Amino acid sequence: MSRKPTTITIAGAGSCRTPALIGTLMEMKERFPVSKVIFFDPDQERFSKIKDYVVLLINQLSPETEVIITDDMDTAYGMTDFVFCMMRVGQNTMRSKDEKIPLKYGLVGQETCGPGGFAYGMRSIGAMKEMVECVRKHSSDTWILNYTNPAAIVGLALYRLFPDDKRIINMCDQPYSMMVSFAKILGVDSQKLRCRYFGLNHFGWFTELYDTDGNDYFNQLKEFLKENEFNPYNVEQRTQSWLDTYHRVNKMMKYIDEYIPNTYLQYYLYSNQIVRESNPEYTRADEARETREKEVWEICAKAVGKKSLEGITVLTSPVFGSMMVEVAESIAYDLNNEFIVMSPNADGLISNFPKEAIVELAGTLGKDGVKPIPYGEIKTFYKGLMENQYAYEELTCEAWIEKDYVKALQALTLNRTVNNLETAELVLDELMNENKAYWFLERK
Ligand code: G6P
Ligand code: MN
Repeated sequence: MSRKPTTITIAGAGSCRTPALIGTLMEMKERFPVSKVIFFDPDQERFSKIKDYVVLLINQLSPETEVIITDDMDTAYGMTDFVFCMMRVGQNTMRSKDEKIPLKYGLVGQETCGPGGFAYGMRSIGAMKEMVECVRKHSSDTWILNYTNPAAIVGLALYRLFPDDKRIINMCDQPYSMMVSFAKILGVDSQKLRCRYFGLNHFGWFTELYDTDGNDYFNQLKEFLKENEFNPYNVEQRTQSWLDTYHRVNKMMKYIDEYIPNTYLQYYLYSNQIVRESNPEYTRADEARETREKEVWEICAKAVGKKSLEGITVLTSPVFGSMMVEVAESIAYDLNNEFIVMSPNADGLISNFPKEAIVELAGTLGKDGVKPIPYGEIKTFYKGLMENQYAYEELTCEAWIEKDYVKALQALTLNRTVNNLETAELVLDELMNENKAYWFLERK
């Protein structure tokens, strides 16, 4: 096939997920040919750890692709077709604080849920706004594929700030990752598996599962999950905290089994247990640093000064990376492939839920952007949970936009992982103090 190559910018290129993304990009270069890759990171020191590796991979596997490395926003966003946005404001140092501070108050310590997710959201909104403004100063055509977390907060804030921009696409790989895991359990080709799903990002449920030949697998999978451990497709590569996360899907389904919950619901439905099982001195940020980050940097270090790939491991990313490239491919060549997408609930996709919310549903991606498949009505239990969570998301975005301390306090009090005003105040004050360089709020 002959496809017109595109230019992509990787924002937050120093991420330890970048090397595997580039490996996957190389693997998929016939499907999604790239004429230029712009690596953008304001922290060039961090990027230097993977620089030689990613450049070697591209030079060896796709010599026709030009490589640009920059810390300048205009160079990064000036002339590009796709921004793959994976920036993490505050990097792992702040992730660690987001996870540890709530635990001091007996609250869930997680990067995207609860008070940690709140603090991270407040950091991300400003940087994302700046990025979108810079991209749009140069072009209204560039697609912004956002993978920066917490995607629920970032997606909603960007929708509030740029309501008419249809080329900002917020994506999450967790439902995708679960689908690949379902396919492995069922012994079917994951490419053929389809679902119906509803919720907010990191807060949703699978409600149907079938394949493109029309075989229905939903009840079979539910029965399996009630009796057997749920393991991710790449169980052997996962650390204990991720395995526990998947196994809690089993626990949740022991009691309420009409749908299959996203793993992230554990933080809201099993908050106390999770806090009890957490180590306030050692969280996922530490685990990720000591495992994935260390391994990736070691592999990358071997590429320094090398002219060939001999003896070099080509990292690939079969879920996160593949999804990013497949999303861009589906948009660039108007393939209208099906994904689980985030979208404004504008036309009442979930008919009994606020239209201004950003919801997560099955949908297609093509040259006109996201086309979600209308879901219809949702039942009271799920609706109640989602309304509470959406109110938290909304107040978080408004707190950032208006710099309003009280709205932030309301947001945290509403969050199911907190629920208590006094604790909300204590954790908010400490988070605010630790995030001085990124955001501030005023008592009006
Ligand atoms: C899933 C989520 C992402 C999140 C990631 C964290 O893939 O969908 O939003 O960033 O998990 O994974 P980590 O291995 O860094 O804890
Ligand atoms: Mn996600």
